[in-house]
Amino acid sequence: MDVLRNVVILLHIVGFAVTFGAWFSQVVAREFRFTRAMDYGILLSLLTGLALAAPWPAGIDLNYPKIGIKLVILLVLGAILGIGSARQKRTGEPVPRALFWTAGALSLLAAGLAVIW
Ligand code: HEM
Repeated sequence: MDVLRNVVILLHIVGFAVTFGAWFSQVVAREFRFTRAMDYGILLSLLTGLALAAPWPAGIDLNYPKIGIKLVILLVLGAILGIGSARQKRTGEPVPRALFWTAGALSLLAAGLAVIW
């Protein structure tokens, strides 16, 4: 069970890597667009995060305030990606810069909370 939990944690971190990596590659390319990879990344973080939020194997101690805050951050990030992607599709322009930077900051904030708190 411990190994299984660690595998789910690995997939959870892959979700972050995909989201933040896709975001960062847009910064490097100077395109500032939201991409499908970001959606897949947060979906993977959400599904694996919910699985990890259950207390298994028995006796495990979880930090529920931290998990709750990460869930809120992820939902806000999902809304920002949704709003930005719809706008980007409608106008053909990159997402407004404030929205773009906020998305990267929220992704990093969630990972920072996970490892530092
Ligand atoms: C963008 C959003 C998220 C990021 C970047 C993120 C990042 C991480 C990282 C890097 C870890 C491994 C480090 C550690 O174990 O402390 C982790 C663990 C974990 N995350 Fe997330 N997370 C996110 C969202 C969520 C969500 C939405 C949930 C639940 C609803 C969640 C629940 C958990 C749980 C339960 C663990 C394992 C804690 C443990 O077993 O000690 N995470 N997260």
